[in-house]
Amino acid sequence: MNLKDHIRGIPDFPKPGILFYDVSPLLANGAAWKAAIDELAEAVHPHKPDLLVGIESRGFLVAAPLALALGIGFIMVRKHGKLPGDKIAHSYDLEYGTDTIEVQSDAVKPGQRVVVLDDLLATGGTMAAAINLLRQVGADVRAAAFLVELTFLNGRDRIDVPSISLTAYD
Ligand code: PRP
Ligand code: MG
Repeated sequence: MNLKDHIRGIPDFPKPGILFYDVSPLLANGAAWKAAIDELAEAVHPHKPDLLVGIESRGFLVAAPLALALGIGFIMVRKHGKLPGDKIAHSYDLEYGTDTIEVQSDAVKPGQRVVVLDDLLATGGTMAAAINLLRQVGADVRAAAFLVELTFLNGRDRIDVPSISLTAYD
């Protein structure tokens, strides 16, 4: 299975000049999606996670089936204001302004090994923020994993754990 056969580039989204890599065709194809999750399971398994983490929202699509494939649980890093109960928040800088992500305070037991999932690595800002947040609740972050990496944005340089990606564009 060639993952790129199931990912399409859509020009000028969300802004003029940006080529958006859309994974919708991959999700819509049962056999290709299963192959992608199986491949990710093989790459993530050696990091021996106790738990997976999905980053809202497209990271959830990857983390949930991968957790089932590996026979472990998964937790959610969500955008501000979505989670009930005690939470820890982390704010980070965007090109214009800031954003805040949150996790429930008891989501991870201190020292638990986690691997963090997202669909796509671009500038690395989202993943770096999620790793920072997870460390605040005591997680031992072992790796970050993605379906797609945009290598020309050098996002990998902002992530201080091993980075796994199934396919890359440069
Ligand atoms: C996209 C993508 C990653 C992030 C990558 O999410 O799903 O989470 O951007 O960009 P970065 O490496 O430059 O931080 P988006 O914020 O568009 O939201 P969504 O997942 O809810 O669609
Ligand atoms: Mg996202």
